[in-house]
Amino acid sequence: MFDTPSAPVRIETETPADAAAVEALALAAFGPGRFAKTAERLRERASVVAGFVARENGAVIGSVRLWAITIGDTRAVFLGPIAVEAGNRRGGLGAELVQACLAFAGSGDAAGVLLVGDVPYFERFGFRKAGGVVMPGPVDGRRLLWWGAGDAAGEVKPEKPI
Ligand SMILES: CC(C)(COP(=O)(O)OP(=O)(O)OC[C@H]1O[C@@H](n2cnc3c(N)ncnc32)[C@H](O)[C@@H]1OP(=O)(O)O)[C@@H](O)C(=O)NCCC(=O)NCCS
Repeated sequence: MFDTPSAPVRIETETPADAAAVEALALAAFGPGRFAKTAERLRERASVVAGFVARENGAVIGSVRLWAITIGDTRAVFLGPIAVEAGNRRGGLGAELVQACLAFAGSGDAAGVLLVGDVPYFERFGFRKAGGVVMPGPVDGRRLLWWGAGDAAGEVKPEKPI
């Protein structure tokens, strides 16, 4: 007898119905300590411009969101949190989620993507240290990373529709 093959994992746009699953994934990956971080403070005051989920048999097993920000006078997006369920890591889902974000950012009016994360993971996608970018709170500057046209510089501010 053959095992029933599981449905392939698909990257899809996040819907409102995914919100609880996305929050549960982030909580499992980062714990409640993430709410104390500057990145989370920024997200609290910004609008989501896109979210992507990895879905397997209907269940959300990976997620990432993009938030509207400005850096100086430049429109950009802030990536995070990104998380893949522990049992599904190292299969390329994280990379697919990041690539979905880069494709989205590259097709709109954002100059690029900013994030706070690990260089050893994100440099493979072309992220580089965002030297001239000033976050609205304490951040380890070595983990503040930029992907986009040219260098970003200036103060990061959240964007919300009026
Ligand atoms: C980071 C994360 C989203 C990657 O998801 P994933 O589906 O495992 O990613 P991929 O399959 O595309 O890549 C896996 C590779 O990245 C490596 N990797 C994962 N996280 C890494 C990190 N923080 N730093 C360096 N390398 C990392 C893995 O070791 C693996 O390497 P290998 O290909 O040599 O085996 C996932 O590990 C996760 O949810 N981690 C917890 C949450 C987190 O830390 N998120 C932010 C990261 S700054």
